[in-house]
Amino acid sequence: MSQQKNPIMGWIDDRLPVTVTYEKHMSKYYAPKNFNFWYFFGVLSMVMLVNQILTGIWLTMNFTPSADSAFASVEYIMRDVEWGWLLRYMHSTGATFFFIAIYLHMMRALLYGSYQKPRELIWLFGMGIYLALMAEAFMGYVLPWGQMSYWGAQVIISLFGAIPVIGDDLTTWIRGDFLISGATLNRFFALHVIAVPLVIVALVVLHLLALHEVGSNNPDGVDIKKHKDENGVPLDGIPFHPFYTIHDMVGIVVFLMIFCSVMFFFPMGGGFMLEYANFEPANGLKTPAHIAPVWYFGAFYTILRAIPDKLLGVIAMGAAIAILFVLPWLDKSPVKSIRYKGIVSKTLIPVFGVAFAILTWLGTQPSDGYFLGLINNTTLARWLTAFYFGYFLLMPFYTRMEKTKPVPERITGGH
Ligand code: HEM
Repeated sequence: MSQQKNPIMGWIDDRLPVTVTYEKHMSKYYAPKNFNFWYFFGVLSMVMLVNQILTGIWLTMNFTPSADSAFASVEYIMRDVEWGWLLRYMHSTGATFFFIAIYLHMMRALLYGSYQKPRELIWLFGMGIYLALMAEAFMGYVLPWGQMSYWGAQVIISLFGAIPVIGDDLTTWIRGDFLISGATLNRFFALHVIAVPLVIVALVVLHLLALHEVGSNNPDGVDIKKHKDENGVPLDGIPFHPFYTIHDMVGIVVFLMIFCSVMFFFPMGGGFMLEYANFEPANGLKTPAHIAPVWYFGAFYTILRAIPDKLLGVIAMGAAIAILFVLPWLDKSPVKSIRYKGIVSKTLIPVFGVAFAILTWLGTQPSDGYFLGLINNTTLARWLTAFYFGYFLLMPFYTRMEKTKPVPERITGGH
Protein backbone atom coordinates (compact mmCIF):
# COMPACT_ATOMS: atom_id res chain seq x y z
CA MET A 1 0.00 0.00 0.00
CA SER A 2 1.10 3.53 -0.68
CA GLN A 3 2.24 5.98 2.02
CA GLN A 4 0.14 8.74 0.39
CA LYS A 5 -2.00 10.90 2.69
CA ASN A 6 -4.16 12.12 -0.16
CA PRO A 7 -6.59 9.23 -0.84
CA ILE A 8 -6.99 10.01 -4.53
CA MET A 9 -3.23 10.04 -5.05
CA GLY A 10 -2.94 6.87 -3.00
CA TRP A 11 -5.57 5.19 -5.17
CA ILE A 12 -3.71 6.20 -8.34
CA ASP A 13 -0.29 5.25 -6.92
CA ASP A 14 -1.51 1.77 -6.13
CA ARG A 15 -2.29 1.37 -9.81
CA LEU A 16 0.32 3.58 -11.52
CA PRO A 17 3.58 4.70 -9.85
CA VAL A 18 3.03 8.45 -10.31
CA THR A 19 4.48 9.64 -6.98
CA VAL A 20 7.48 7.32 -7.13
CA THR A 21 8.25 8.44 -10.70
CA TYR A 22 7.81 12.10 -9.79
CA GLU A 23 10.19 11.68 -6.84
CA LYS A 24 12.74 9.74 -8.88
CA HIS A 25 12.90 12.34 -11.62
CA MET A 26 12.07 15.59 -9.84
CA SER A 27 11.91 16.03 -6.07
CA LYS A 28 14.44 13.31 -5.23
CA TYR A 29 16.64 13.64 -8.29
CA TYR A 30 19.80 15.16 -6.87
CA ALA A 31 21.62 17.40 -9.31
CA PRO A 32 25.05 18.92 -8.64
CA LYS A 33 24.72 22.32 -6.97
CA ASN A 34 27.21 24.06 -9.26
CA PHE A 35 25.28 24.14 -12.54
CA ASN A 36 26.09 27.30 -14.49
CA PHE A 37 24.89 29.19 -17.59
CA TRP A 38 25.69 26.26 -19.89
CA TYR A 39 23.24 24.02 -18.07
CA PHE A 40 20.21 26.05 -19.19
CA PHE A 41 20.27 24.70 -22.73
CA GLY A 42 18.86 21.23 -22.05
CA VAL A 43 15.65 22.63 -20.66
CA LEU A 44 15.63 25.35 -23.31
CA SER A 45 15.83 22.66 -26.01
CA MET A 46 12.79 21.08 -24.39
CA VAL A 47 10.93 24.40 -24.42
CA MET A 48 11.68 24.85 -28.11
CA LEU A 49 10.63 21.28 -28.88
CA VAL A 50 7.26 21.93 -27.26
CA ASN A 51 6.98 25.25 -29.12
CA GLN A 52 7.65 23.53 -32.46
CA ILE A 53 5.11 20.78 -31.81
CA LEU A 54 2.35 23.12 -30.67
CA THR A 55 2.78 25.77 -33.37
CA GLY A 56 3.23 22.96 -35.91
CA ILE A 57 -0.13 21.43 -35.01
CA TRP A 58 -1.88 24.74 -35.56
CA LEU A 59 -0.03 25.47 -38.80
CA THR A 60 -1.06 22.06 -40.10
CA MET A 61 -4.70 23.06 -39.64
CA ASN A 62 -4.38 25.60 -42.46
CA PHE A 63 -1.52 24.32 -44.57
CA THR A 64 -2.23 22.43 -47.81
CA PRO A 65 0.45 19.91 -48.69
CA SER A 66 0.23 19.99 -52.47
CA ALA A 67 2.52 21.45 -55.10
CA ASP A 68 -0.37 23.57 -56.44
CA SER A 69 -1.43 25.18 -53.22
CA ALA A 70 1.29 24.87 -50.56
CA PHE A 71 2.82 28.28 -51.31
CA ALA A 72 -0.58 29.99 -51.43
CA SER A 73 -1.69 28.30 -48.21
CA VAL A 74 1.34 29.74 -46.39
CA GLU A 75 0.43 33.21 -47.74
CA TYR A 76 -3.10 32.56 -46.53
CA ILE A 77 -1.81 31.65 -43.06
CA MET A 78 0.27 34.85 -43.01
CA ARG A 79 -2.52 37.18 -44.17
CA ASP A 80 -5.93 35.75 -43.44
CA VAL A 81 -5.76 33.19 -40.66
CA GLU A 82 -6.22 34.90 -37.31
CA TRP A 83 -2.83 35.01 -35.59
CA GLY A 84 -1.54 32.87 -38.44
CA TRP A 85 1.45 35.16 -38.93
CA LEU A 86 2.36 34.68 -35.28
CA LEU A 87 2.11 30.90 -35.49
CA ARG A 88 4.27 30.82 -38.56
CA TYR A 89 6.94 33.12 -37.17
CA MET A 90 6.94 31.26 -33.85
CA HIS A 91 7.62 28.09 -35.83
CA SER A 92 10.24 29.49 -38.23
CA THR A 93 12.05 31.56 -35.58
CA GLY A 94 11.57 28.61 -33.24
CA ALA A 95 13.64 26.39 -35.55
CA THR A 96 16.55 28.81 -35.33
CA PHE A 97 16.33 29.13 -31.55
CA PHE A 98 16.02 25.36 -31.22
CA PHE A 99 19.32 24.96 -33.05
CA ILE A 100 20.96 27.76 -31.04
CA ALA A 101 19.96 25.92 -27.86
CA ILE A 102 21.13 22.56 -29.26
CA TYR A 103 24.51 23.87 -30.40
CA LEU A 104 25.18 25.51 -27.03
CA HIS A 105 23.96 22.32 -25.30
CA MET A 106 26.45 20.28 -27.33
CA MET A 107 29.21 22.83 -26.69
CA ARG A 108 28.59 22.39 -22.96
CA ALA A 109 29.14 18.65 -23.35
CA LEU A 110 32.45 19.42 -25.06
CA LEU A 111 33.52 21.86 -22.35
CA TYR A 112 32.79 19.58 -19.43
CA GLY A 113 33.35 16.16 -21.01
CA SER A 114 29.72 15.21 -20.34
CA TYR A 115 29.91 12.50 -23.01
CA GLN A 116 32.64 10.61 -21.16
CA LYS A 117 32.05 7.38 -19.25
CA PRO A 118 29.41 6.69 -17.88
CA ARG A 119 27.41 9.12 -20.06
CA GLU A 120 28.17 7.71 -23.53
CA LEU A 121 24.57 6.62 -24.10
CA ILE A 122 23.22 10.07 -23.21
CA TRP A 123 25.53 11.45 -25.90
CA LEU A 124 24.54 8.79 -28.44
CA PHE A 125 20.84 9.47 -27.90
CA GLY A 126 21.68 13.18 -28.21
CA MET A 127 23.39 12.58 -31.54
CA GLY A 128 20.36 10.59 -32.69
CA ILE A 129 18.22 13.60 -31.79
CA TYR A 130 20.58 15.94 -33.63
CA LEU A 131 20.42 13.83 -36.79
CA ALA A 132 16.63 13.56 -36.64
CA LEU A 133 16.41 17.29 -35.99
CA MET A 134 18.44 18.09 -39.09
CA ALA A 135 16.18 15.85 -41.19
CA GLU A 136 13.14 17.48 -39.58
CA ALA A 137 14.32 21.03 -40.30
CA PHE A 138 15.34 20.16 -43.86
CA MET A 139 11.95 18.68 -44.68
CA GLY A 140 10.12 21.51 -42.95
CA TYR A 141 11.88 24.04 -45.13
CA VAL A 142 10.63 22.29 -48.28
CA LEU A 143 6.97 22.61 -47.25
CA PRO A 144 6.29 26.32 -48.07
CA TRP A 145 7.28 25.39 -51.64
CA GLY A 146 9.24 28.57 -52.33
CA GLN A 147 12.27 28.83 -54.58
CA MET A 148 14.73 27.93 -51.82
CA SER A 149 12.51 25.07 -50.64
CA TYR A 150 12.69 23.59 -54.09
CA TRP A 151 16.32 24.27 -54.93
CA GLY A 152 17.61 23.48 -51.45
CA ALA A 153 15.88 20.10 -51.72
CA GLN A 154 17.30 19.70 -55.21
CA VAL A 155 20.87 20.22 -53.96
CA ILE A 156 20.55 17.97 -50.92
CA ILE A 157 18.65 15.12 -52.55
CA SER A 158 21.00 15.12 -55.55
CA LEU A 159 23.88 14.44 -53.13
CA PHE A 160 22.60 10.89 -52.80
CA GLY A 161 23.13 10.59 -56.55
CA ALA A 162 26.90 10.67 -55.90
CA ILE A 163 26.74 7.23 -54.29
CA PRO A 164 28.10 4.71 -56.81
CA VAL A 165 25.78 2.12 -58.37
CA ILE A 166 22.60 2.82 -56.41
CA GLY A 167 22.81 6.66 -56.43
CA ASP A 168 20.33 7.37 -59.22
CA ASP A 169 17.74 4.87 -58.08
CA LEU A 170 18.08 6.11 -54.52
CA THR A 171 17.37 9.74 -55.45
CA THR A 172 14.30 8.68 -57.43
CA TRP A 173 13.13 6.64 -54.47
CA ILE A 174 13.59 9.57 -52.05
CA ARG A 175 11.81 12.03 -54.34
CA GLY A 176 9.06 9.57 -55.27
CA ASP A 177 9.39 10.93 -58.80
CA PHE A 178 12.00 11.65 -61.47
CA LEU A 179 12.25 15.21 -60.26
CA ILE A 180 11.20 17.06 -57.14
CA SER A 181 7.42 17.24 -57.32
CA GLY A 182 4.17 17.15 -55.41
CA ALA A 183 4.93 13.53 -54.47
CA THR A 184 8.12 14.70 -52.74
CA LEU A 185 6.23 17.45 -50.95
CA ASN A 186 3.55 14.99 -49.75
CA ARG A 187 5.99 12.52 -48.25
CA PHE A 188 8.08 15.25 -46.64
CA PHE A 189 4.90 16.59 -45.08
CA ALA A 190 4.02 13.17 -43.64
CA LEU A 191 7.54 12.70 -42.30
CA HIS A 192 7.79 16.26 -40.97
CA VAL A 193 4.49 16.38 -39.08
CA ILE A 194 4.36 12.92 -37.61
CA ALA A 195 7.12 10.38 -38.25
CA VAL A 196 10.23 12.37 -37.35
CA PRO A 197 8.64 14.25 -34.40
CA LEU A 198 7.67 10.87 -32.90
CA VAL A 199 11.26 9.68 -33.23
CA ILE A 200 12.58 12.91 -31.68
CA VAL A 201 10.21 12.74 -28.71
CA ALA A 202 11.05 9.06 -28.12
CA LEU A 203 14.78 9.84 -28.26
CA VAL A 204 14.38 12.74 -25.82
CA VAL A 205 12.65 10.41 -23.34
CA LEU A 206 15.49 7.88 -23.69
CA HIS A 207 18.05 10.73 -23.42
CA LEU A 208 16.59 11.83 -20.09
CA LEU A 209 16.12 8.30 -18.73
CA ALA A 210 19.77 7.58 -19.51
CA LEU A 211 20.75 10.86 -17.83
CA HIS A 212 18.77 10.10 -14.68
CA GLU A 213 20.22 6.60 -14.49
CA VAL A 214 23.80 7.84 -14.12
CA GLY A 215 23.16 11.37 -12.86
CA SER A 216 24.18 14.75 -14.27
CA ASN A 217 27.76 15.76 -14.83
CA ASN A 218 28.79 19.29 -13.76
CA PRO A 219 31.32 22.03 -14.58
CA ASP A 220 33.93 20.37 -12.35
CA GLY A 221 33.37 16.91 -13.80
CA VAL A 222 33.33 15.51 -10.25
CA ASP A 223 31.16 12.53 -9.34
CA ILE A 224 28.78 13.79 -6.64
CA LYS A 225 27.72 10.25 -5.73
CA LYS A 226 31.10 9.63 -4.10
CA HIS A 227 30.19 11.67 -1.01
CA LYS A 228 26.77 10.98 0.47
CA ASP A 229 25.19 11.75 3.86
CA GLU A 230 23.71 9.12 6.20
CA ASN A 231 20.46 9.07 4.14
CA GLY A 232 22.30 8.37 0.91
CA VAL A 233 21.81 11.93 -0.39
CA PRO A 234 24.84 13.32 -2.28
CA LEU A 235 26.44 16.10 -0.19
CA ASP A 236 27.00 18.24 -3.27
CA GLY A 237 23.55 17.60 -4.76
CA ILE A 238 20.30 19.52 -4.47
CA PRO A 239 16.82 18.25 -5.38
CA PHE A 240 15.97 19.11 -8.97
CA HIS A 241 12.56 20.31 -7.83
CA PRO A 242 12.14 22.98 -6.51
CA PHE A 243 15.70 24.28 -6.83
CA TYR A 244 16.45 23.79 -10.52
CA THR A 245 12.85 24.16 -11.70
CA ILE A 246 12.84 27.70 -10.26
CA HIS A 247 16.41 28.36 -11.40
CA ASP A 248 15.55 27.23 -14.95
CA MET A 249 12.59 29.65 -15.03
CA VAL A 250 15.07 32.52 -15.09
CA GLY A 251 16.84 31.06 -18.12
CA ILE A 252 13.54 30.34 -19.86
CA VAL A 253 12.24 33.89 -19.33
CA VAL A 254 15.45 35.52 -20.60
CA PHE A 255 15.64 33.14 -23.57
CA LEU A 256 12.01 33.77 -24.49
CA MET A 257 12.56 37.53 -24.25
CA ILE A 258 15.37 37.27 -26.81
CA PHE A 259 13.26 34.86 -28.87
CA CYS A 260 10.31 37.29 -28.90
CA SER A 261 12.51 40.27 -29.80
CA VAL A 262 13.84 38.43 -32.84
CA MET A 263 10.44 36.99 -33.77
CA PHE A 264 8.59 40.30 -33.59
CA PHE A 265 11.24 42.63 -34.98
CA PHE A 266 13.51 40.48 -37.11
CA PRO A 267 11.53 37.41 -38.21
CA MET A 268 13.51 36.79 -41.39
CA GLY A 269 16.79 37.05 -39.49
CA GLY A 270 18.35 39.06 -42.33
CA GLY A 271 17.75 36.17 -44.75
CA PHE A 272 19.52 33.65 -42.52
CA MET A 273 16.34 32.22 -41.01
CA LEU A 274 13.86 32.72 -43.86
CA GLU A 275 15.64 33.32 -47.13
CA TYR A 276 14.37 36.08 -49.41
CA ALA A 277 14.17 33.75 -52.43
CA ASN A 278 11.65 31.67 -50.53
CA PHE A 279 9.04 34.39 -50.91
CA GLU A 280 8.86 33.45 -54.61
CA PRO A 281 6.93 30.29 -55.53
CA ALA A 282 8.99 27.22 -56.49
CA ASN A 283 9.96 27.20 -60.15
CA GLY A 284 11.80 24.17 -61.47
CA LEU A 285 12.89 26.11 -64.56
CA LYS A 286 14.54 29.02 -62.79
CA THR A 287 17.61 28.30 -60.66
CA PRO A 288 18.33 31.02 -58.05
CA ALA A 289 21.73 32.67 -58.43
CA HIS A 290 22.96 31.73 -54.97
CA ILE A 291 21.63 28.59 -53.30
CA ALA A 292 22.52 28.54 -49.62
CA PRO A 293 21.20 26.50 -46.72
CA VAL A 294 19.65 27.97 -43.61
CA TRP A 295 22.40 28.89 -41.12
CA TYR A 296 22.20 25.80 -38.93
CA PHE A 297 23.34 23.52 -41.76
CA GLY A 298 26.12 25.93 -42.73
CA ALA A 299 29.11 24.09 -41.23
CA PHE A 300 28.38 20.77 -42.91
CA TYR A 301 27.53 22.44 -46.21
CA THR A 302 30.91 24.22 -46.10
CA ILE A 303 32.69 20.90 -45.55
CA LEU A 304 30.78 19.44 -48.50
CA ARG A 305 31.77 22.35 -50.76
CA ALA A 306 35.36 22.46 -49.54
CA ILE A 307 36.09 19.26 -51.44
CA PRO A 308 35.97 19.58 -55.24
CA ASP A 309 34.95 15.97 -55.93
CA LYS A 310 31.22 15.40 -55.34
CA LEU A 311 31.46 11.89 -53.89
CA LEU A 312 34.42 12.77 -51.66
CA GLY A 313 32.57 15.90 -50.54
CA VAL A 314 29.53 13.84 -49.58
CA ILE A 315 31.78 11.37 -47.74
CA ALA A 316 33.52 14.22 -45.87
CA MET A 317 30.19 15.74 -44.89
CA GLY A 318 28.92 12.37 -43.65
CA ALA A 319 32.17 11.75 -41.81
CA ALA A 320 31.98 15.16 -40.14
CA ILE A 321 28.67 14.14 -38.56
CA ALA A 322 29.64 10.50 -37.98
CA ILE A 323 32.80 11.41 -36.07
CA LEU A 324 30.69 13.20 -33.47
CA PHE A 325 29.05 9.88 -32.62
CA VAL A 326 32.35 8.36 -31.52
CA LEU A 327 33.52 11.39 -29.54
CA PRO A 328 33.19 9.55 -26.17
CA TRP A 329 35.80 7.06 -27.39
CA LEU A 330 38.15 9.66 -28.86
CA ASP A 331 38.59 11.60 -25.65
CA LYS A 332 41.08 9.60 -23.59
CA SER A 333 41.58 12.25 -20.92
CA PRO A 334 41.52 11.01 -17.32
CA VAL A 335 39.57 14.17 -16.39
CA LYS A 336 36.26 15.41 -17.76
CA SER A 337 36.10 19.19 -17.42
CA ILE A 338 38.12 21.71 -19.41
CA ARG A 339 38.97 23.22 -16.01
CA TYR A 340 41.36 20.36 -15.25
CA LYS A 341 42.42 19.32 -18.74
CA GLY A 342 45.86 20.17 -20.12
CA ILE A 343 46.88 23.20 -22.16
CA VAL A 344 46.24 21.56 -25.56
CA SER A 345 42.57 20.79 -24.79
CA LYS A 346 42.13 24.11 -23.00
CA THR A 347 43.23 25.87 -26.18
CA LEU A 348 41.62 23.60 -28.75
CA ILE A 349 38.10 23.41 -27.29
CA PRO A 350 37.39 27.17 -27.62
CA VAL A 351 39.23 27.29 -30.97
CA PHE A 352 37.00 24.44 -32.16
CA GLY A 353 33.93 26.45 -31.12
CA VAL A 354 35.11 29.45 -33.15
CA ALA A 355 36.11 27.28 -36.13
CA PHE A 356 32.65 25.69 -36.15
CA ALA A 357 31.03 29.14 -36.06
CA ILE A 358 33.15 30.31 -39.03
CA LEU A 359 32.37 27.10 -40.95
CA THR A 360 28.69 27.82 -40.28
CA TRP A 361 29.03 31.36 -41.59
CA LEU A 362 30.90 30.25 -44.71
CA GLY A 363 28.08 27.83 -45.56
CA THR A 364 25.72 30.76 -46.00
CA GLN A 365 28.15 32.72 -48.22
CA PRO A 366 29.12 32.36 -51.89
CA SER A 367 32.25 30.20 -52.13
CA ASP A 368 34.12 32.76 -54.27
CA GLY A 369 33.76 35.56 -51.69
CA TYR A 370 36.38 36.77 -49.21
CA PHE A 371 36.17 36.25 -45.46
CA LEU A 372 36.54 39.69 -43.81
CA GLY A 373 38.11 40.76 -47.12
CA LEU A 374 41.21 38.76 -46.14
CA ILE A 375 41.07 35.21 -47.35
CA ASN A 376 39.17 33.42 -50.08
CA ASN A 377 36.16 31.58 -48.63
CA THR A 378 37.07 28.26 -50.26
CA THR A 379 40.67 28.38 -49.02
CA LEU A 380 39.50 29.16 -45.52
CA ALA A 381 36.85 26.42 -45.74
CA ARG A 382 39.58 23.89 -46.60
CA TRP A 383 41.80 24.92 -43.70
CA LEU A 384 38.93 24.79 -41.27
CA THR A 385 37.75 21.42 -42.61
CA ALA A 386 41.26 20.07 -42.01
CA PHE A 387 41.19 21.53 -38.51
CA TYR A 388 37.73 20.05 -37.83
CA PHE A 389 38.91 16.52 -38.63
CA GLY A 390 42.34 17.05 -37.04
CA TYR A 391 40.71 18.15 -33.80
CA PHE A 392 38.84 14.85 -33.48
CA LEU A 393 41.32 12.44 -35.06
CA LEU A 394 44.24 13.65 -32.95
CA MET A 395 42.15 13.77 -29.78
CA PRO A 396 43.13 10.25 -28.59
CA PHE A 397 46.77 11.39 -28.67
CA TYR A 398 46.76 14.86 -27.18
CA THR A 399 44.21 14.04 -24.47
CA ARG A 400 46.43 11.13 -23.36
CA MET A 401 49.69 13.01 -23.54
CA GLU A 402 48.88 16.39 -22.03
CA LYS A 403 49.42 17.07 -18.33
CA THR A 404 46.12 17.42 -16.48
CA LYS A 405 45.45 19.20 -13.20
CA PRO A 406 44.33 17.35 -10.07
CA VAL A 407 40.52 17.17 -9.82
CA PRO A 408 39.09 18.21 -6.43
CA GLU A 409 37.26 15.59 -4.31
CA ARG A 410 34.18 17.78 -3.90
CA ILE A 411 32.72 20.34 -6.30
CA THR A 412 33.98 23.90 -6.09
CA GLY A 413 31.66 26.93 -5.93
CA GLY A 414 27.90 26.52 -6.37
CA HIS A 415 25.02 27.94 -4.39
C1 HEM B 1 15.53 17.91 -28.38
C2 HEM B 1 16.79 17.96 -28.08
C3 HEM B 1 17.37 17.78 -26.70
C4 HEM B 1 16.76 17.93 -25.49
C5 HEM B 1 15.31 18.34 -25.21
C6 HEM B 1 17.75 17.66 -24.49
C7 HEM B 1 17.51 17.73 -23.13
C8 HEM B 1 18.46 17.55 -22.13
C9 HEM B 1 18.27 17.85 -20.75
C10 HEM B 1 16.98 18.45 -20.14
C11 HEM B 1 19.41 17.54 -20.11
C12 HEM B 1 19.69 17.73 -18.62
C13 HEM B 1 19.94 19.21 -18.35
C14 HEM B 1 21.22 19.68 -18.96
O1 HEM B 1 22.24 19.03 -18.73
O2 HEM B 1 21.21 20.72 -19.67
C15 HEM B 1 20.36 17.02 -21.08
C16 HEM B 1 21.64 16.56 -20.82
C17 HEM B 1 22.55 16.17 -21.77
N1 HEM B 1 22.39 16.24 -23.15
FE1 HEM B 1 20.69 16.75 -24.11
N2 HEM B 1 18.94 17.32 -25.07
C18 HEM B 1 18.77 17.40 -26.44
C19 HEM B 1 19.72 17.17 -27.41
C20 HEM B 1 21.03 16.80 -27.16
C21 HEM B 1 22.04 16.64 -28.15
C22 HEM B 1 21.83 16.92 -29.64
C23 HEM B 1 23.19 16.24 -27.51
C24 HEM B 1 24.54 15.93 -28.08
C25 HEM B 1 24.74 15.31 -29.18
C26 HEM B 1 22.90 16.16 -26.09
C27 HEM B 1 23.80 15.77 -25.11
C28 HEM B 1 23.56 15.81 -23.74
C29 HEM B 1 24.50 15.41 -22.73
C30 HEM B 1 25.91 14.84 -22.94
C31 HEM B 1 23.86 15.62 -21.49
C32 HEM B 1 24.44 15.36 -20.09
C33 HEM B 1 24.99 16.65 -19.60
C34 HEM B 1 25.63 16.63 -18.25
O3 HEM B 1 25.19 15.84 -17.40
O4 HEM B 1 26.57 17.44 -18.08
N3 HEM B 1 21.58 16.51 -25.91
N4 HEM B 1 19.74 17.04 -22.33
